[in-house]
Amino acid sequence: SLSLSQRYFVNLEFWHRSGGPVFLYIGGEGTLSEYSVLAGHHVSMAAQHSALLVSLEHRYYGQSAASTLDNDQLDTERLSQLSSQQALYDLMLFQQYICRLYGLTSRNTWISFGGSYAGSLSAWLRGKFPHLIYGAVASSAPVKAQLNFTEYNKVVAKSLSNPVVGGSDQCVLAVRQAFSVLDSALRSGRLSSVATDFQSCTALSDPADRRELLSSLAGIAMGAAQYDGQGVPLSIAQVCAIMGNSSSADAYTRLAQLAQAYLQQVGEPCLWSSFQQRLSELQDIRLQPGGVGERQWSYQTCTEFGYYQSCEDPSCPFSPLLTLQAQTQLCPLVFGVSEDRLASAVQFTNSYYGSDSPATYRVLYVNGDVDPWHVLSVLPGSSCCGGRGGGGEGSLALLIPGASHCADMAPPYLTDPPALREARQVSDGERERARETRRERGTRRRVGGE
Ligand SMILES: *[C@@H]1O[C@H](CO)[C@@H](O)[C@H](O)[C@H]1NC(C)=O
Ligand SMILES: *[C@@H]1O[C@H](CO)[C@@H](O)[C@H](O)[C@H]1NC(C)=O
Repeated sequence: SLSLSQRYFVNLEFWHRSGGPVFLYIGGEGTLSEYSVLAGHHVSMAAQHSALLVSLEHRYYGQSAASTLDNDQLDTERLSQLSSQQALYDLMLFQQYICRLYGLTSRNTWISFGGSYAGSLSAWLRGKFPHLIYGAVASSAPVKAQLNFTEYNKVVAKSLSNPVVGGSDQCVLAVRQAFSVLDSALRSGRLSSVATDFQSCTALSDPADRRELLSSLAGIAMGAAQYDGQGVPLSIAQVCAIMGNSSSADAYTRLAQLAQAYLQQVGEPCLWSSFQQRLSELQDIRLQPGGVGERQWSYQTCTEFGYYQSCEDPSCPFSPLLTLQAQTQLCPLVFGVSEDRLASAVQFTNSYYGSDSPATYRVLYVNGDVDPWHVLSVLPGSSCCGGRGGGGEGSLALLIPGASHCADMAPPYLTDPPALREARQVSDGERERARETRRERGTRRRVGGE
């Protein structure tokens, strides 16, 4: 008998029992809600394809954390059972559980879906359990782990200068100038005026707090690029309306105005700049209800993925004080994971899953070129996706101009840019073709996992 300690959701509304496919929506590093089977592009497609919709929350995240842990304590020893490999094993058990619960057979084809980290899980699940998962959609999936993720901010700079999303060369130039003036103000010890100009929550006497302030400021632009047009406090167009307006004030002053506009949007009195507070929050082993599991995700970056968005490369428009080491130091401080072990952990992840050319096929990789994560994913023209492709034996990769992180996963909106609309149609078509190929071969291949 099977029992599950993770939370899951099922939507039977569209399902055609005798042969309808199963769409598995994979939960990532946050809480999963019932909307995982009620809304989104995969739900629209489930209606078209008479699919059974199921979703599974990731172990150690959301409400599943409380049901896996007996005393609601996320100490480091317990976190050792938190990994992508364990998540794939959980998904495999869940697949078997659902098959039994609904009496599924090999005629019920499984397609997995996921975005961001869960997008990687979707591709990897197909790769590791090809007999259970017929095809996978991996949205904005950084399948390649990387310790020193310098390209992230390189893409942010590119997006800030991209006119398709309201960016401009003047905008990114002003961001660079402003940070360089800010850096010299900090170097020359004008701490109290910087603290006042940027409404800092701390007095900035501690160098770690100065770096935290720089990180908060950079974060406004990073968030704008990653989630442009998806309800972030400020979009790229809004950031650049302030930063790109050279007739309003000097670049440094515009950056201060940007901070002010941001604080107004999020309704906070001051800009976050306490390193000590961030450290204690990460070190706090009590389970936090709801939201992103910051501590859990930090653990996964320290033990599997890296993904540290450093700013030491000249292509980065922010402060070079935002070093890789400023982030990796948290691994020993929070989890006792030595910084020396990070490079080999990342290397293991890449050799285990195949980095940006996963050893699998029939995976659809969807990315947006405004999203800084796309550089760690599988892109058009890579070795995965040459070949025969087209929903047969190959994989397919789309890079959507002007789209941000996981934008393709939302239900289609009338306001979608044309490129995103077009990409949705391509992916619908690919899935339809995949289904037909599957039907042709249905008698020879056994999928479904009895
Ligand atoms: C630029 O700033 C000036 C002065 O604040 C303002 O009058 C003008 O409308 C702004 N231009 C744009 C394009 O927003
Ligand atoms: C990270 O990468 C950048 C650019 O490639 C490089 O300048 C920097 O030295 C690297 N940092 C570390 C700590 O290796």
